[in-house]
Parts: sequence; structure tokens; C-alpha cells
Amino acid sequence: MDADDLDLGQLAPTTSHGKRKGWHLWQMAAGTGLIVYVVRTKAFGFHRVPFRLQVPYVPSSAKQVENMMSLLEGRSGKLVDLGSGDGRIVVEAYRRGFRPVIGYELNPWLLHLSNIRAWRAGCYGKVYFRQDHWKADLTDCSNVTAFLAPGLVPLLENKLLAELPEDACVVVARFPFLEWTPTGFTGDGLERAWVYNIRAVRQAQQGKTEGSPAQEAKHTPH
Ligand SMILES: C[S@@+](CC[C@H](N)C(=O)[O-])C[C@H]1O[C@@H](n2cnc3c(N)ncnc32)[C@H](O)[C@@H]1O
Repeated sequence: MDADDLDLGQLAPTTSHGKRKGWHLWQMAAGTGLIVYVVRTKAFGFHRVPFRLQVPYVPSSAKQVENMMSLLEGRSGKLVDLGSGDGRIVVEAYRRGFRPVIGYELNPWLLHLSNIRAWRAGCYGKVYFRQDHWKADLTDCSNVTAFLAPGLVPLLENKLLAELPEDACVVVARFPFLEWTPTGFTGDGLERAWVYNIRAVRQAQQGKTEGSPAQEAKHTPH
């Protein structure tokens, strides 16, 4: 059979099938993307924060919760947990005597789970859950706990330094603050937690600014 004998019509179904297949693939991809988008934004509540500030849910192990809480031993007063997940730190903080205790969590499913956890622990209605922690007012908060993500650290440092009272303590799990010197830490590997004293952090920052070349230049007599 030479080229002239080829029935082009025979090729047509293959080509249009290929196109149809391509179209189906495109539809599937678009559909999947749409579903992922809707689930991420609506079900997980991520539409409230920009993409770069989003943090996946990874629950703390019991040991990690214990490590975080042990760094706040002897303290009391208000405690806020930033990115509270299913409320495990909030409920444990309440059990250890902190009052009031507020968890901030974007994901509405986790907020439901938090309320169930609080109810099972006998503190439903006594602990509080809110949504976006970037909107939290921390000016009267003496204890903060957070297990978030490394990308958030600089922003979080700024918010905490701007808002927290002098006597506040911040405990973070897994991802330490890079610019701050901790007053202590406990635990190993992924379960390690660090504690920061806000007064000490502010003093250290002030010392750095005063010692910086720009500041020294200002103080150098002409
Ligand atoms: C690594 S998980 C930690 C969960 C919980 N604290 C624990 O230790 O089990 C971080 C959580 O922060 C939440 N999150 C992220 N950004 C948030 C925001 N802007 N406001 C409130 N929650 C947020 C996520 O939805 C996620 O559940």
C-alpha cells in the first residue's frame, strides 16, 4: 500500500480521539485543581491568609505538648496558642491552670474537633477558639505557644515584639526563632521546644541597635 492508498478518514477517528482524550485530561486537571482550590480555601479556611503564610496541619505529639508546657512551668494567666489545630495545647494549658486560654485556628474542621476535645475534657465553653491569629490582639497576653512553620518566623517575631507585654513568655515547638536568644529549651529532635522571655529579647535587640554602625555613627562627635 502506498501513500495514495491511505484513507485519510481512517486517521480522523484517531486524531479526534486524541483530541477528545486531551480535552478529557484538561477537564480532569481543571476539575481536580478546582476541587483542590475549593477544599484548601473553603474547608481549610486558607482563603483568609495569603499563600506564603499558609501552614499545613501537623499535630504535636504528646511528648511535644509536654515539652512546651514544661517550659511554662510555674507561670499562669492568659495563654494564647497560635495555630491551635485540634485544641490539644489549649486543653492541656487549661488543665494546667492558665486562664483564659484561647486557641487560634483557621481550619473550621479543626475548630469543630477542638470543641469536641474541650467538651470531652470538661472545659467546653471555658476555653475559647478564634480564627486568624494574625488578627489576634496579644497586648494583654503573658503566655504564647506556637507550632507553625519556618517561613512565618520573621513575621511572627515582629508581631510578638510589637504586641506582647514585658513579662510575656513565648514557647515555640520545632522551629526556633532565628533572631532571638532562648532562655531555655527542652526535648530532642522534632519534639524540641524553646522558650523566650520578651523582656530579655527586647533588651538584646536594643543592645544590637545601639551597637550597630549606624547608631555609633549617630553618637560619634563630629
Ligand atoms: C503545625 S499545625 C500545629 C497544630 C497544633 N498547634 C498542634 O500542636 O497540634 C499548625 C496549625 O496552624 C494553623 N494555622 C496556620 N495559619 C494560621 C492562622 N493565620 N491563624 C490560625 N491558625 C493558623 C493551621 O491550620 C494548622 O492547623
